[in-house]
Amino acid sequence: MVGTELQSRRVARAQSAGDTDGLALRDVRRVFVHGRTELVALDGLTLAARGGEVLAVVGPSGCGKSTLLELVCGLQRPDGGSVRSAPAVLMPQRDLLLPWLSAVENASLALRIAGRSRSAASTSASALFEELGLDGFQDARPHELSGGMRQRVAFVRTLLAGKPVLCLDEPFGALDAITRAEMQDWLAGALAREPRTVLLVTHDVEEAVLLADRVAILSPRPGRVLDVLATEIPRPRTRTDPAVVGLRERALRALADGARG
Ligand SMILES: Nc1ncnc2c1ncn2[C@@H]1O[C@H](COP(=O)(O)OP(=O)(O)OP(=O)(O)O)[C@@H](O)[C@H]1O
Ligand SMILES: [Mg+2]
Repeated sequence: MVGTELQSRRVARAQSAGDTDGLALRDVRRVFVHGRTELVALDGLTLAARGGEVLAVVGPSGCGKSTLLELVCGLQRPDGGSVRSAPAVLMPQRDLLLPWLSAVENASLALRIAGRSRSAASTSASALFEELGLDGFQDARPHELSGGMRQRVAFVRTLLAGKPVLCLDEPFGALDAITRAEMQDWLAGALAREPRTVLLVTHDVEEAVLLADRVAILSPRPGRVLDVLATEIPRPRTRTDPAVVGLRERALRALADGARG
């Protein structure tokens, strides 16, 4: 299927999903207490994503990106402002696979917790394993898998949680450049086949422009939204596409301006 067709299918699904699968943060403040000092992680952060939209979030280290995802998933509560989201699942910054479980048991954990039988859960996971090039590794333990494979198992686990909103925290941060590029292509394809609302936190501005519908630029801590860039580039996108290169430059400039304050 050509890129523009995929994109219009994605937009149509996003529209039919309405706002019920979206999320909205309004004027959010989050403060952590370190001994006697207060550390303001987020302040005045306002951001929204429509159902079916891929929204990338980029910003300097420590500006509150992981905190933002935990707020959306309901793992933390804001100290000010409001957070509203359709049910969301977090793929954390580290893959956190359980070393004593096989790959397929790790991937189908949410289904087992929800009461599905071992065989039904493993059938659902195995279908995605095949799609993601993990076929034959169902019974492998996490230490027997490469970094890219572990990330894919963690992603299967995130998908199988069955939530409309995926919060992905640096999903490819620990990978080498080649594996990272493969995983980006694969994620773009997976989202085209099965659109979800995605909040994608990344340090990599190029990755944000390649994968997202819009890119939110956060300020240094306390994090707030400095700018939101719409990508509007037909899919599939390539790194060398002048529109991708141009937008990457714009995003980098916005980040650098933000760092200067
Ligand atoms: N549970 C916590 N208790 C205390 N302080 C915290 C906690 N979680 C985060 N912080 C602080 O809040 C700030 C934002 O942290 P967060 O992990 O959200 O940043 P980040 O943008 O995800 O950083 P990175 O890009 O390095 O992953 C940091 O200064 C951090 O020290
Ligand atoms: Mg983080």
